[in-house]
Amino acid sequence: MSTPEKHRVVVTRRLYPFLIDELRTAYALDDNQDDHLLSADELAQRLATADGALIVGGERVGDALLAGTPRLKVVANVAVGYNNLDLPACTKHGVVATNTPDVLNESVADHGFALLLAAARRVGESERWLRVGLWKRWTFDMFPGADIHGKTLGIVGMGRIGRSIARRAAGFSMRVIYHNRKPLPAAEAAGAEWVGKEDLLRESDHVILMVPYAPSTHHLIGAAELALMKPTAVLVNLARGGVVDDRALIRALRDGRLAAAGLDVFEGEPELNPGFLELENVLMTPHIASSTRATREAMARLAMRNLAETLAGRRPPSLLNPDVWDQRRR
Ligand code: DGY
Repeated sequence: MSTPEKHRVVVTRRLYPFLIDELRTAYALDDNQDDHLLSADELAQRLATADGALIVGGERVGDALLAGTPRLKVVANVAVGYNNLDLPACTKHGVVATNTPDVLNESVADHGFALLLAAARRVGESERWLRVGLWKRWTFDMFPGADIHGKTLGIVGMGRIGRSIARRAAGFSMRVIYHNRKPLPAAEAAGAEWVGKEDLLRESDHVILMVPYAPSTHHLIGAAELALMKPTAVLVNLARGGVVDDRALIRALRDGRLAAAGLDVFEGEPELNPGFLELENVLMTPHIASSTRATREAMARLAMRNLAETLAGRRPPSLLNPDVWDQRRR
């Protein structure tokens, strides 16, 4: 009896080697071993004969690409954000799309607090100063920062990660206000109070952004919104580049209209607006909010499960386009 042919699976960027080993046992694997950035053409070429794909680096999957992938049944994003996936196009082509919600909530919330605390207490700036040997004597007024405890935190985007952030804020005795399009049921808001976006920006001592990126959230925070914020405030962006107008933010930070920013995401990343590099009052990390070893493994394992379930003909746990199910490619 002949053994059934293994499904062909593409992994677009490097994963931990032991995960690649597991995938190689289960599938005929094309795993981009040297981890180079795949051009749109190369991605199309690799997916042309694939049954499934683990999308690791936010590669864009849209109509033109899917038109040339007749066997492709599932694109499993190794990320909770899925603005790289054109869901209507996936549905049109019968391709199941999935993401990795929940498993990263706590790690991303930790990182949000790390950015908030470090930016408010000038950790990056004072460490740079110390490292280059400028600390000659202690002075009373060295690097005065902003307090976090007891202040008002505004969360724009009170989803699952936003709620994890709110729980941490309670430990710092903060009052939490939030803005979503609609208020949450009281049980889900966990004591946080819904306010309009402009009120949130005016009232908050510090603001954390955690909204998905979509045309409706492009430049949600621009010059006009920054002008509403307190000049003593810290702005943290954990969401996506493009939610903030980086040029307007740089101007506000440079002109002292905003005390500091903690940023994990940037417009056009990995390229940075060089204006950020000239500023001391911005603390930056390279899109690593979910990057703990355990969380990255959990994200990869959830994506692998989404892939495996779909290829086995079963509904995956984090299906993004349920409309596809009855007309999916088999
Ligand atoms: C996510 O999961 O969306 C993170 O931003 C990593 O891309």
